[in-house]
Amino acid sequence: MNVSRKPFLNLSTSCLLFALGLFNTAALAQSADVAAALAHPDRPAEDAAADAVRKPAEVLAFAGLETGMHVLELEAGGGYYTEIMSRAVGSEGSVILHHAPGLMQYNDGGIDRRTANNRLTNVRVSLTNFDALDAADNSIDLVTWMQGPHELGFAPQGESLGDPEASFREIVRVLKPGGVFLAIDHIAPDGAGLEAGGTWHRVEESVTTAMAEAAGLTVLRRSDLLENPDDPLNVSVFAPEVQGKTSQFMVLYQK
Ligand SMILES: C[S@@+](CC[C@H](N)C(=O)[O-])C[C@H]1O[C@@H](n2cnc3c(N)ncnc32)[C@H](O)[C@@H]1O
Repeated sequence: MNVSRKPFLNLSTSCLLFALGLFNTAALAQSADVAAALAHPDRPAEDAAADAVRKPAEVLAFAGLETGMHVLELEAGGGYYTEIMSRAVGSEGSVILHHAPGLMQYNDGGIDRRTANNRLTNVRVSLTNFDALDAADNSIDLVTWMQGPHELGFAPQGESLGDPEASFREIVRVLKPGGVFLAIDHIAPDGAGLEAGGTWHRVEESVTTAMAEAAGLTVLRRSDLLENPDDPLNVSVFAPEVQGKTSQFMVLYQK
């Protein structure tokens, strides 16, 4: 009995170690790119200071970011994530730094500083409304929209940033088959509707998912990583008591 069981146990152990070895290699290969991007010496100190709250390593692991991917970052804002993803995808990959013209009044030169002197060589800036994206059909591995889908309920100075249904159709159009869409946003109270985007600058996860599913995306996974139970939800994200520490949902959808 012992003799017959010993090879079985050894084989099992070997298989287990082999499997763990493969798993570790894959995990290290992916996290090493993001870790290197986070530790890059040219990275602004204020970006690094935000990492404890924004949790970029966990967020990009959740999104499945890989070396060589082509990424469309919707509403990149000041480019905190642009810089991380640019370095993490490497020279074979690329990032489109998108921003909506109607939101440039809040940008304060952030895009120019981020891309000054061609410091991120695989980044292209694209300024369009959300329903007119400047990317070819089926060309993008990952679309991200961090702290942003609520903008579809916001119209600065009465100007739409994009028709909601058409904007989600655009996300689907540019994604490769099997490509993924990462949505992160400040959580609105139940029943608030898309209008909360124009008041509290928030949106419900369910409202976002309804728009995504109507356009043909399916939920791949969701996470409570960025949720904060101390956020009352029914205040603007710019209210001093919650700014920088809002409760946020995170969902990955697939085409
Ligand atoms: C916090 S940024 C997110 C940018 C980027 N996706 C990120 O995760 O770093 C969200 C948006 O808020 C906008 N914003 C900033 N101040 C604002 C204000 N007072 N009213 C409305 N929108 C504002 C910015 O233009 C930006 O588009």
